[in-house]
Amino acid sequence: MTDEVGFAIVGLGMGRGRAEMCNETFGARLVAVCDIWEERGRAVEEALDVEWIRDYQDVLAREDIDVVGLFTPSGLHCSMAVEALNAGKHVCMTKPMDIRVAACNAAIQAAEANDLVLAIDFESRYQAVNHQIHAALQSGAIGSIIFADLRMKKFRGQDYYDSGVPEGWRSRRSTEGGSLANQAVHYVDLLQWWLGPVERVVGSTGTFAHNIETEDASISLLQFESETQAAVLTTTCSFPDLGTVIEVNGVNGTICWKDQEITLFEATQTRNVDGGHRPNYVHPGYMQQPESVQLKPEDFATPEELPANIIEDMVGAVVEGKPVQCDGYEGRKTVQIIEAVYESSKTGDWVDIS
Ligand SMILES: NC(=O)c1ccc[n+]([C@@H]2O[C@H](COP(=O)([O-])OP(=O)(O)OC[C@H]3O[C@@H](n4cnc5c(N)ncnc54)[C@H](O)[C@@H]3O)[C@@H](O)[C@H]2O)c1
Repeated sequence: MTDEVGFAIVGLGMGRGRAEMCNETFGARLVAVCDIWEERGRAVEEALDVEWIRDYQDVLAREDIDVVGLFTPSGLHCSMAVEALNAGKHVCMTKPMDIRVAACNAAIQAAEANDLVLAIDFESRYQAVNHQIHAALQSGAIGSIIFADLRMKKFRGQDYYDSGVPEGWRSRRSTEGGSLANQAVHYVDLLQWWLGPVERVVGSTGTFAHNIETEDASISLLQFESETQAAVLTTTCSFPDLGTVIEVNGVNGTICWKDQEITLFEATQTRNVDGGHRPNYVHPGYMQQPESVQLKPEDFATPEELPANIIEDMVGAVVEGKPVQCDGYEGRKTVQIIEAVYESSKTGDWVDIS
């Protein structure tokens, strides 16, 4: 390995931005880009002055490539990761880790067997505000958690589902999930990161406004090991697009989050940090509101050296052995939750997360 970490970026839809990131990241070197679609490959080759490789196997055979970044359709992520890991490459991949838990298991196993880095690129994990919320919840800033709700109400037209390479992959169960697996996976990841392991789920999915095999709306209930519950609504039918809101209610306060920003972070003056489920109302008057304090996100810690993005994260992991923000085990958790909701939607029963 040279001093710089050599990257190949595979899949040049959203992967093109990640290829540009390699050029902007200290310690990273973009060695090649790969895509089976010649027009896209040539366009990036010219724009970034980098070699385009059509065949993925040729990427894996190259000795000057240390890290393979996978930005191909979701159902290909883990099978391509296994090939790369067995060829001795570290791997990062966009979300979701895959659409099947079994595929995630195979990639985790290959990373372990070859002692290589496997990371999932969740952009939210590189936002300081999300770490501050995590730290605030851990420290009991809003008391023990009653429940949370996640409402993702996005808009995607039929053209979005009909496009892509291979054509229409976003609409098919074999290559992608629906609103929950494709879009909401980012926010389900936040929920499980902030609130801890999910024990079981029940849910229902449906297709309302698109001609697709996958769902464009889902509603589910997540029960956490901590006994907290979260209601999750996802859709790509919402016109207008209302973005995503997550609200977490604790016995002493509330955190509201919308599209990577805190919109409300407030607690009662008198903290009930004993883990009880009843607020300590200090005011004698019936229905009188306790005094509130505005909490400041910056009072809660972020990791000292939070990488700016997945490329910087991979450089730190490969060169210095630092842990990545989301490894294979962590990335698999959202796939487990989502697969369980899809299963529950078929049977109508609660599904345990094993
Ligand atoms: N913000 C995010 O995190 C974010 C945003 C968009 C998409 N994504 C994810 O990125 C992935 C790709 O989405 P997209 O919107 O860029 O799709 P896309 O269809 O625009 O691009 C996928 C590319 O992969 C290429 N490809 C397919 N099979 C290949 C193979 N075997 N070898 C080499 N190249 C191959 C295609 O030719 C195409 O150019 C999906 O998993 C999606 O969920 C993540």
